[in-house]
Amino acid sequence: MSQRKKLYEGKAKILYQGPEPGTIIQHFKDDATAFNAQKHEVIEGKGVLNNRISEHIFIQLDNLGIPTHFIKALNMREQLVQEVDVIPIEVVVRNFAAGSLVKRLGLEEGTHLPRTLVEYYYKDDELGDPMISEDHITTFGWATPQEIEEISGLALRINDFMCGMFSAVGIRLVDFKLEFGRVWEEEAMRIVLADEISPDNCRLWDVKTGDKLDKDRFRQDLGGLLNAYQEVAARLGLITRESQGGTSGPVLIKN
Ligand SMILES: Nc1ncnc2c1ncn2[C@@H]1O[C@H](COP(=O)(O)OP(=O)(O)OP(=O)(O)O)[C@@H](O)[C@H]1O
Ligand SMILES: [Mg+2]
Repeated sequence: MSQRKKLYEGKAKILYQGPEPGTIIQHFKDDATAFNAQKHEVIEGKGVLNNRISEHIFIQLDNLGIPTHFIKALNMREQLVQEVDVIPIEVVVRNFAAGSLVKRLGLEEGTHLPRTLVEYYYKDDELGDPMISEDHITTFGWATPQEIEEISGLALRINDFMCGMFSAVGIRLVDFKLEFGRVWEEEAMRIVLADEISPDNCRLWDVKTGDKLDKDRFRQDLGGLLNAYQEVAARLGLITRESQGGTSGPVLIKN
C-alpha cells in the first residue's frame, strides 16, 4: 500500500489526499450509523455498493450539466473527487412524507406532498444537525442569497432527474440529502455537488410492494440492508442479478 495522508474520517467515508493538489480520494467504508452515530454496525459490502451507486448517479448528473466534484472511479471502494470547501448545510429534498417530517408535522408516512419540499439543516453533529431557514443561512453567512438560489435550483434539477431514473426501475424516490461545496477556478467560484448519493442518504421504496430499499432498514431494525442496496444496484444495471444473494458477493458491472 502506498503511503497516503488521511484528511478526515467520517461515519461512512474516509477522505485521503489525492495525487494532484486540489483532489481527494473518497473511500467508502462498510460502517452503518444512525441517530447521530448512537447506533452503529459494520455491514460488509455496503461501501462497495454505495461507491458504485453514487459514482453512477454523479456521472449521469454530470452528463446533464450539473456540476459535481466527481472526477473518476478508482476502484471498488474509492473515487477521485475535486476537493471543495463544503458548505455546512445539508439540503434535503422531499417528495413524500417520511422520517423527521412525519414526526414534526404529524403527517402520515408516504403522503404525497403537494409540491417538492426543500429543507436545510445545519451540519453540526454536536447540535444534532438542526433544521434552519434561508434566513439563518444568510444571517450567519453560511451562504449568500444567490448561492442558496443556485443550490435549491440544482437540488430540484437533481430531484427531477433522480425521480425519473428511479421510477424507470420501479422505485419511488421519497426524499434524499445533498451536500454542496465551493471550488475556485482562477478568480471564479463555482458551487458543485459534493459528498455522495446512495441508499444511505436517500429514501427509496419499491413502487409495487412499498418495501424500503434504503438505510431505514438499519434505522428501523428491518434487516436485509445489503440485499436492499444490491436490489437498487441491480435495478440500475450496476451489478448482475446472478451475483445477488450468491456466496461470492456482488459482481460489479464495469462501464
Ligand atoms: N469533495 C469534497 N471535498 C471535501 N470534503 C468533502 C467532499 N465531499 C464530501 N466531503 C465531506 O467529507 C465527509 C464525508 O465523510 P462522511 O460522509 O463519512 O462524514 P459524516 O460522518 O457523515 O460527517 P459529516 O457530518 O461531516 O457529513 C463529510 O464531512 C463531507 O462533508
Ligand atoms: Mg456523511
